Amino acid sequence: MGSVSEKDRGSWGSKIAFIFAASGSAIGLGSIWRFPIMVGTNGGAIFVFAYILAVILIGFTVMLAELTIGRHTQKNPVGAFNSIKPHTPWKAVGYMGVATGVFILSYYSVVAGWALGYLYKTITGVFRGEVSWELSDHVFAHFAANPIEVLICLFIIIGLTTFVISKGVREGIERWSKVLMPLLFALIISLAIRALTLRGAGTGISFYLKPDFAKLNANILFFAVGQAFFSLSLGMGTMMTYGSYISKKDNLVSSAGWVCFSDSLVAFLAGIIIFPTLFATPGINPEGFKAEIGLMFQVLPLIISKIPGGYIFGVLFFMLLLVAALTSTISLLEVPTAFLVDERKWKRRKAAIFIGALSFLLGIPSALSNGGVSFLTRLGVMVKMDLIFGNIMLAVGAFFICIFLAYSWGVSNALKEIASGNKIFKVKPIWVFNIKFLAPFAVITILIFIIGIAR
Ligand code: PFF
Repeated sequence: MGSVSEKDRGSWGSKIAFIFAASGSAIGLGSIWRFPIMVGTNGGAIFVFAYILAVILIGFTVMLAELTIGRHTQKNPVGAFNSIKPHTPWKAVGYMGVATGVFILSYYSVVAGWALGYLYKTITGVFRGEVSWELSDHVFAHFAANPIEVLICLFIIIGLTTFVISKGVREGIERWSKVLMPLLFALIISLAIRALTLRGAGTGISFYLKPDFAKLNANILFFAVGQAFFSLSLGMGTMMTYGSYISKKDNLVSSAGWVCFSDSLVAFLAGIIIFPTLFATPGINPEGFKAEIGLMFQVLPLIISKIPGGYIFGVLFFMLLLVAALTSTISLLEVPTAFLVDERKWKRRKAAIFIGALSFLLGIPSALSNGGVSFLTRLGVMVKMDLIFGNIMLAVGAFFICIFLAYSWGVSNALKEIASGNKIFKVKPIWVFNIKFLAPFAVITILIFIIGIAR
């Protein structure tokens, strides 16, 4: 295994531990905070439809590709490309992934910080009793624009993440994900049921689930594919890094399938909570509604206040949301850290602290761009960071990962790796077709189209 000691690198205890940890990376603010915004700004149900297609046809394909490359090489993204094709420009794709990770971590941690702030607000009783849209909207706008509070929250999130990563893979990540994910899932289901039984839930349900196919366009496809990569932690080598810790006895295909399924299920349920609640609110309807960056934070207090035992429920929910966000920030920090440990022989602790500090600094403009500092707000720094790194760079990365696997390393080598731990690969012909043609072609076409529109 690699060039570092077993202790510095670590490995998963079992297949199920891997699935929990990889789902921990995938499930997070991407499904619960970002997905509803994407649905809300891209035509509702038609986006949901495009998203499901994107996950099945492209997300799963790239997920399996990353896990396969990762397990084969037992390395971080830069090391992985380097060990399959030494002394070629391919390792640039790895470097790009490492850099993308640092940037995503920076603004993602701002939103995770909001979740922390909301936990505090819920504990101190800000959302006690009946919560109106006006109150909820005001609380969010006020909080996101408070520079001191958001920066303190950002600092705490990055600090916690750095602490977990510096302690190593097994003790750190595994312990967090195993216990708490199922509990979060139970709370999400309860909220979804409550939302569906609200008076006036119908408007939200049809907005969310009745697609208008006439609305389909390149923009929607671009954001659907980008959201699939973001939500499944693909395109920057996270799943490659996680795959490098999987045992040769484990089944990569079913692991990839489980991670895609559980992540999408949580995203789907998040939409079931948000839209019926939103459009059951007096005065708010789909016509002319524009989803903003705080959508989840505006809507959750409304539904939590309508569930029996709302106070305890709310506290527990934001606590678990925070854990879900942390298992994702942990995976974001793991990629650059594994790179420095494996390739540059840094000590794990030093690497984690260095990257943590860097992301904190990079996160400051995003943190202040939601009302905190007016010129950063006007520039829309956080939205732009998310567009560039969360959509475009992940898509570019995923494109190169497909091309690398299919045309440089070779599908037959990948299939040999997949066969270890999995004798019957039922969807093999489909996966081979997708990785060679469909996924790279679809991603590059959409990217070119979008760049064309943006100019
Ligand atoms: N997938 C995470 C989420 O949906 O919250 C975010 C993320 C983690 C994106 C790791 C990319 C990544 F490499």
